[in-house]
Amino acid sequence: MENNPPNKNKRIVLKAAAVLAGVFLILSAASFPMKTVYYTVYTNKLSEGVRIAQVSDLHSCYYGKNMKSLIEAIDETSPDVVVLTGDIYDDSVNNDNTRAFLKQIGRKYPCYYVTGNHEQWSGSWDSFAREAESFGIHVLDGENSDAFGITLCGSGVNYSASIEKCAEEADSGNFNVLLAHYPEQIEYYRSFGKFDLILSGHAHGGQWRIPGILNGLYAPNQGLFPEYAGGRYDFEDSVMIVSRGLSRTKEIIPRIFNNPELVIIDIVPDAG
Ligand SMILES: [Fe+2]
Repeated sequence: MENNPPNKNKRIVLKAAAVLAGVFLILSAASFPMKTVYYTVYTNKLSEGVRIAQVSDLHSCYYGKNMKSLIEAIDETSPDVVVLTGDIYDDSVNNDNTRAFLKQIGRKYPCYYVTGNHEQWSGSWDSFAREAESFGIHVLDGENSDAFGITLCGSGVNYSASIEKCAEEADSGNFNVLLAHYPEQIEYYRSFGKFDLILSGHAHGGQWRIPGILNGLYAPNQGLFPEYAGGRYDFEDSVMIVSRGLSRTKEIIPRIFNNPELVIIDIVPDAG
């Protein structure tokens, strides 16, 4: 058997490391652009369709000068309503990108915003919420709001109490959409039997994916191999859509096969 001299072994290890680093860089660069992802949910509770654009986990990341690419991506889909499912403002970076974004969409679309954990951690949720309202955004904090024939139910700072209140006030005859940041609490949301559609975020797609094999490596509150990292989850009584979020320039570890996403949901009357 041939024994490689130590210097040769070192060169092989260095070359392998360089190839791996190159592959990692290429994959993370390919995972950087934003994608628009579409879902259709059918219901017999509506006579006319509604299109929702969901923006989640923006973390004040940069999307071009004046947030042009994100605004244009939303404009291209012509949504009826825009929902913001938390971690839009961030607790550890300058929030000017978020402000530029909210200022524009607040003028263009009916927008509804619920808090995420990073707004809470900032200790500035009250001032963020007031600022968002000054841009024309509706902040829902344990409140329901009717728009385009559907009811938007907004989880709030007092998470469980706010969701209980929303469920109590929601009319079962309406198509009720719960905006709630944390997908891992799906069984709690379902326990009320009131929410037809749940829109969440928080998991950032599990950061690394292998399409068709692994839907996310790690997510906060869920740990390794998270069940609800991103995508669509169908239940007997409801559907949950988990946005993989729009955070990218703030990520310490790059995303792999997990492009930031703008989520578009069409709620369509069931022909049957
Ligand atoms: Fe979060």
